[in-house]
Amino acid sequence: MTGPSVLDVSPVIPVVVLDDAQAAVPLARALLAGGIGVVELTLRTTTALDAVRAVATEVPEILLGAGTVTCAEDAARAVDAGAQFLVSPGTTRAVVEAARSRDVPLLAGVATPSEALLALEMGLHELKFFPAEQAGGAAYLAALRSPLPQLRFCPTGGITPANAPGYLALANVGCVGGSWITPPDVLARRDFGRVEELARAAVALR
Ligand code: 3PG
Repeated sequence: MTGPSVLDVSPVIPVVVLDDAQAAVPLARALLAGGIGVVELTLRTTTALDAVRAVATEVPEILLGAGTVTCAEDAARAVDAGAQFLVSPGTTRAVVEAARSRDVPLLAGVATPSEALLALEMGLHELKFFPAEQAGGAAYLAALRSPLPQLRFCPTGGITPANAPGYLALANVGCVGGSWITPPDVLARRDFGRVEELARAAVALR
């Protein structure tokens, strides 16, 4: 991929669980209107790949990721559908190799120094710190910087507008990820105006 790192597009990567693929395009447009240029559509619903396909076709301006990639097959299907980067809750050789074979960036999840070292051995320098709040929060992530200064993170899991600034202030954090910009009730109402407002507020967190 050319252009900026996935971690440098926006302060927040919205993590989206979509039941209705029809909502994907207006959702992506609402994020862009609110100033967020990146989205992660999680492969947690049966319609997720349709949503990825729709955004890839209709909203090429947004950097489109597929999340919850847990095996090589997920990675291949997501890239075939149009995903430009992949996110995984963990770090496995199969997923790392699948992403590399398709030449797309992967934010692989780690939560411990040993996992971070294994990711580094596989050539990854930009990682997802997951589940961020439950694993130790911003203080824990800050403590990884001294021994592992070559790593940058997108913390995800339990991030809110209240705790996001504490992560965004860390030198080893590029951006945070979270689902608060696309809450289930807002998506169910198809309230894309609200998504745009939440996106605008998220951009202002840094
Ligand atoms: C993820 O997959 O990164 C998390 O489910 C997002 O976590 P959150 O819902 O706590 O923001």
